[in-house]
Amino acid sequence: MKSIVILGSTGSIGTNTLDIVTKFPEQFRIAGLTAGSNDRKLEEQLRIFKPDTVALTDPAAAERLRERCRDLPVEILSGIEGQSQVAARPGVELVISAIVGGAGLVPTLAAIRAGKHVALANKEPMVMAGKLMQEEARRRQVNILPVDSEHNAIFQSMVGHRREDVRRLILTASGGPLWDMPLDKMRYVKPEQALRHPNWKMGPKITIDSATLMNKGLEVVEARWLFDVPPEQIEVLVHRESIIHSLVEYSDGSVIAQLGLPDMRTPISYAMNYPARMPLDPPPLDLARIGKLTFHRPDHDRFPCLGLGYESLRVGGTMPATRNAANEIAVAAYLSESIGFLDIANIVRTTMDAHQPVDVSSLDVALEADRWAREKAAALVRALSR
Ligand SMILES: NC(=O)c1ccc[n+]([C@@H]2O[C@H](COP(=O)([O-])OP(=O)(O)OC[C@H]3O[C@@H](n4cnc5c(N)ncnc54)[C@H](OP(=O)(O)O)[C@@H]3O)[C@@H](O)[C@H]2O)c1
Repeated sequence: MKSIVILGSTGSIGTNTLDIVTKFPEQFRIAGLTAGSNDRKLEEQLRIFKPDTVALTDPAAAERLRERCRDLPVEILSGIEGQSQVAARPGVELVISAIVGGAGLVPTLAAIRAGKHVALANKEPMVMAGKLMQEEARRRQVNILPVDSEHNAIFQSMVGHRREDVRRLILTASGGPLWDMPLDKMRYVKPEQALRHPNWKMGPKITIDSATLMNKGLEVVEARWLFDVPPEQIEVLVHRESIIHSLVEYSDGSVIAQLGLPDMRTPISYAMNYPARMPLDPPPLDLARIGKLTFHRPDHDRFPCLGLGYESLRVGGTMPATRNAANEIAVAAYLSESIGFLDIANIVRTTMDAHQPVDVSSLDVALEADRWAREKAAALVRALSR
């Protein structure tokens, strides 16, 4: 039985992971769960899955949980230190990293440094400090297994092949809910419209990132570090149906892809149980019924956030971390209706232009770039919402 921790258990990836654990109780034991501030949902989960330890980043939420769970033999921690302690807990074999945003960097790195294998959904830490995370993983001989459906598809398409034979990684993108919308209309898009993803049911931050294509820009950086491939060998292809989850082209012209219905439980379970597959029993992929699959080049004029992803990677150092942090602030401001949809890209662009990148030589350097960019972007939000 594999002992696992889920960082971000109350979110979309977290609950999908628990759904898999419920289906295969003889294979997994939940040793720890964490969340940000949702003590009610974490309480429901801990009463069902009975972990030894849980953490909430928000200390007040952790205190409320302690008050209500005096009857249970569970250790309740708080703060980012609490998240890291759960992630590094002795006896844990696999940590599912599913916190949203840069808040996941410290606990995910703590898991790697404690010698845990990581199933990584939380892409932002890879964007902030991918080189550092991979160096640490190599040093501790742990695997970072991709959960993001595109990277999981690439991972699956590379099993049994030589890395040096790869010519291109082709990341597919659904195009999100605004793919067909003209630029002059995008200015007025409200959050409820941008949150209506055509194919995937996900948390709000990644859904807005899908609408701006920032998500694909983050994924390009994630792919660079996960697969050690330079940016010029990573391409993005818009594929509206989300059936082909990504492709790998080899030097002999062969292209290998992974296909499936859009259901995050497939990549999550593959990362949880690699190399064995789990009998999830999804409905069959009926390609004859689907009829045709379509492909488009990305439109960089209407979706500048994708280009910002490539640019941050070419500049390197702390630039991707800066872009990520500015985006987090801008997306939160957009969701609270303080700024407009097109302001997201402008805030990220202006923050990147003001940044002097340095090499990400340590965790502190990545965290300082993150802090700087959040302040800068917050000032830009304030100026816009006046
Ligand atoms: N959803 C998908 O299908 C999908 C697909 C591919 C990749 N991903 C990636 O997976 C990650 C999670 O996405 P999601 O859609 O599952 O997000 P989500 O539904 O918004 O859930 C986020 C989780 O992170 C926790 N959290 C938020 N802020 C935190 C903090 N400061 N400290 C500790 N925990 C915190 C939340 O806890 P509370 O409930 O307490 O706020 C929740 O458990 C993201 O990086 C996303 O890009 C998601």
